[in-house]
Amino acid sequence: MMQSKSSTGLHVAIIMDGNGRWATVRGLPRVSGHRAGVTAVRRVVEHAPGLGIRALTLYAFSSDNWARPPQEVQSIFWIIRAFLRLECERLRQQGARLEVIGRRDRIPLPLLREIERTESITAEGGSLHLRIAIDYSAQTSIAVALATAASQTSRHQPLSAESVRAIVTHTLTAGSGNVDLLIRTGGEQRLSDFLLWESAYAELVFTPRMWPDFDESDLAAALGDFNHRERRFGAIPSSLDQSAPSLMENAQ
Ligand code: FPP
Repeated sequence: MMQSKSSTGLHVAIIMDGNGRWATVRGLPRVSGHRAGVTAVRRVVEHAPGLGIRALTLYAFSSDNWARPPQEVQSIFWIIRAFLRLECERLRQQGARLEVIGRRDRIPLPLLREIERTESITAEGGSLHLRIAIDYSAQTSIAVALATAASQTSRHQPLSAESVRAIVTHTLTAGSGNVDLLIRTGGEQRLSDFLLWESAYAELVFTPRMWPDFDESDLAAALGDFNHRERRFGAIPSSLDQSAPSLMENAQ
């Protein structure tokens, strides 16, 4: 299996799109696509650590998804709750630590209880930080982090932009770090308000594969693509940097 270049492991984020279309072309109700999507979630969670992934963030329900018919919204919540109930013990044994990101005040109570239970039971997991985004909006998360920063400032001593940036980064990424690779299934090429701050230097992979069909070979292929990208973080390639010590100088 392919490993990542990083010694500490990668943070991979996935926009799991295409459940509805997967179901519709099969003449099935959309909810069948979401159910089939759970199998794909299980697959990527199981294979992620072996592929060098240490943090995996999955976009399960965006704050804009409240605009869907109430029955579909209810079904998605029910499916996530069933996933947590059925997979909690396996996640613990696998060493996965679950964390749900997003707003919690609008999540139905039975799902909220299941989230809190799973987070507490898996709290010691060290092999994979599994983050599931529910009622999530990147813009709202950034606004909340900015409010946190603002609360630490005073009228006499305003924080510098650098300090605000550090506080926002810490609030949003503590424990998971910035996103290295962002994958979107389902053929669309947009970010849909997902991890906008944390993905400042993420490599993007868009695949036409519908989420229920996404498997470990697709994940490995995306990582293979990622491993061939040159990540420069705004700098120029070291081979063109004449101020860098040359190989001959290094050898002396
Ligand atoms: C987007 O596809 C998918 C969702 C809004 C729901 C994602 C939910 C799951 C995969 C269920 C399980 C999740 C976990 C974490 C256990 P879409 O419905 O927008 O597809 P479409 O673009 O084809 O209509």
